[in-house]
Amino acid sequence: MRLLTVVGARPQFVKAAPVSRELARQGLNEILVHTGQHYDCNMSEQFFRELDLPVPRHHLGIGSADHGAQTGRMLEALETVMLAEKPDAVLVYGDTNSTLAGALAAAKLNLSGIHIEAGLRSFNRSMPEEINRIVVDHVCGLLLAPTAAACSNLRAEGIPELPKDAGPVQRRDLGFIRAGDVMKDALLDAAKIAAQSHHPFPDLPKKQYYLVSIHRPANTDDPQVLGAWIEALKAADLPVVLPLHPRTRACAERFQFLERFVPPLRAVEPLGYLAMIAAQRDAKAILTDSGGVQKEAYLLGVPCVTLRTETEWVETLADGWNQLCPSPDLLWNCVARIPGNGVAPAAIFGEGRISERVVRCIIDWL
Ligand code: UD1
Repeated sequence: MRLLTVVGARPQFVKAAPVSRELARQGLNEILVHTGQHYDCNMSEQFFRELDLPVPRHHLGIGSADHGAQTGRMLEALETVMLAEKPDAVLVYGDTNSTLAGALAAAKLNLSGIHIEAGLRSFNRSMPEEINRIVVDHVCGLLLAPTAAACSNLRAEGIPELPKDAGPVQRRDLGFIRAGDVMKDALLDAAKIAAQSHHPFPDLPKKQYYLVSIHRPANTDDPQVLGAWIEALKAADLPVVLPLHPRTRACAERFQFLERFVPPLRAVEPLGYLAMIAAQRDAKAILTDSGGVQKEAYLLGVPCVTLRTETEWVETLADGWNQLCPSPDLLWNCVARIPGNGVAPAAIFGEGRISERVVRCIIDWL
């Protein structure tokens, strides 16, 4: 059985790592394709090394461009690879332009598409990721949903649930299964390794700093908005560590904001996966607009403020561990609202080893 996996951006390397290991354990032949969407060493290569991901068989080297150009180049290159490799199915993760190109290229060639992290919706169509999610979920065959909310979203769009315990489902039965979130496996694996290491800022005592990740176009691309977040963060009562995503750094340079990164702000290069997990674990709170970081914060039991008006991970809001902060002037009110009572969050991302369940679903389906 030949499975072609498309990855391209940082969060996909994280999600693919436990699944890829499990596919190998179960004897499936995986052809890994890297679109090249993320190409800096600390956004890509370092993740492959730390996560022990196999070297991609194909590296398309697409790089950055406007959405249409980037996705179009990926689509063309992926079609060529798929025609040559003739896989039994194509596996895509998440909601990036690499996900969209992988799913669309497969659908056009009448190949079965499998989407891991299906069914997420922000209901905000100005997010490029939202468009990608909707299209991908409607052109893939097997949708593996991480949470109950993701399943409801798919149901509401008329996509059927595949029978869970009725033996192997039939290939080309289109539908979704609630499989849990493979990022949980990645996080638990990394947290074990990171437990043996200090967090990457040894001069900052544990729980005496905030960790910030901000990279969504809605927060970075407008100087007024980015400037307002920077000013709000400067009002912190503790040091604020900001590993700067390349998009954020590029915007800050363009708007001549780099000189505003003065204490308590500490702008640093993007962290590797293990360092990021350790830095999150030891932070007093995490302030982020990333989907993955919201989940990691929740699983690590670290209070989180989401710098957006909505989240796809609605379950994380229920007990107050994640607070939505729609505007910079509300930032410190939101931080103050976090309960911070150390209660372990419930298992909303699934029980047990999710990658085993995911691979079982894939094998049954194929
Ligand atoms: C992409 C995903 C987003 C995901 C994020 C994780 C889409 C539409 N968005 O956003 O969902 O949360 O990845 O990081 O696919 N750049 C570099 N080096 C790199 C990568 C990017 O310098 O290795 C710069 C380029 O200037 C590029 C900009 O960052 O124009 C944005 O990169 P891009 O991959 O287009 O989108 P992200 O903002 O990273």
